[in-house]
Amino acid sequence: MLDYEVLSKLQEEALGALQAAADAAELDAWRIRYLGRKGGALSEAMKRLAVLAREERPAYGQAANEVKERLEAAFGEREEALKSANLRAELTAGAVDVTLPGRRPELGHLHVVTQTLRQIIAIFGEMGFQVYEAPDVETDEYNFGLLNMPPYHPARDMWDSFWVSQEDQSTGSGERLVMRTHTSPGQIRVMRERYPEPIRVILPGKTYRYEQVSARSESQFTQVEGLAVGRGIRMTDLIGTLQAFASKMYAAGRRLRVRGSYFPFTEPSIEADMDCMLCGGKGCVVCKYTGWLEVAGAGMVHPVVLRNGGYDPKIYSGFAFGFGVERPSMVKYGIKDMRLFYGNDLRFVEQFK
Ligand code: DAH
Repeated sequence: MLDYEVLSKLQEEALGALQAAADAAELDAWRIRYLGRKGGALSEAMKRLAVLAREERPAYGQAANEVKERLEAAFGEREEALKSANLRAELTAGAVDVTLPGRRPELGHLHVVTQTLRQIIAIFGEMGFQVYEAPDVETDEYNFGLLNMPPYHPARDMWDSFWVSQEDQSTGSGERLVMRTHTSPGQIRVMRERYPEPIRVILPGKTYRYEQVSARSESQFTQVEGLAVGRGIRMTDLIGTLQAFASKMYAAGRRLRVRGSYFPFTEPSIEADMDCMLCGGKGCVVCKYTGWLEVAGAGMVHPVVLRNGGYDPKIYSGFAFGFGVERPSMVKYGIKDMRLFYGNDLRFVEQFK
């Protein structure tokens, strides 16, 4: 009888220990301890067969086998239970909360200068101006010569220039190349292409100057050039156009002021200002207490320039204007430093979504 008690004790103990096994390692240790072929508790119990009386052996063997089967079955169950508990734990730990809001993909947007340019293009578009694009790298001839500034003309000093090395260029012409210092050379290109049609275009684009970079100037910036050529075009057409532009771009009812100026490619030349839309002309920091903000350099196209474009100045006349885009944007948005435009700082760029 004693032998059977040992067996049932063993079974009881083993089943208890099995419930305590909490992970794969403990489960494995349990298996080795109770069911291990060598030194396992059950194998040890089987060894008693050898010392039992012959007639007692079958019954003992059978009982021991039953215990073994029971333990094996319990082991299988426990293993399954642990596995699914682990799975459940894993699932809850890494659970996806489908009710959380999604992460929005970052959408790009247009740079503030591009936005402003498009506004400008739209305004002039309503007035019948087409957009014409001209190259950023120009010949000396187009940037200066054809605009009535032959070599050594003192007015060239108005534009500090980036010259492009000719050594590795294969233009064949032997002409000096320059990063355009203004958009004005495009005037000649349009005229040569469109003659003898009347012209009403704006030429937006990047311009380059060999400047000391500071809060007020960059070596690369954006200009918009305007050109109208035809019969009977007069200074009043120019002033009216600039007036309409200022009112649409900044605020309705802008007053325009015209000052005499000098540009080699216009005659007469003017500079146009509008009354400051922030203080209404009373004077403030933005207009530097003058009450006026610069709108554009402009004038009637110089006869030499018309002729260089192929238009006979005895028959045709025209007006032209040019202005920078960054300066007025600084006024409009209160931007204090020109270097911010192309500094690639997202904290700046993203303010203009
Ligand atoms: N090209 C001039 C500049 O860069 C601006 C300018 C002045 C353009 C008068 C014009 C004009 O077309 O008529 O400073």
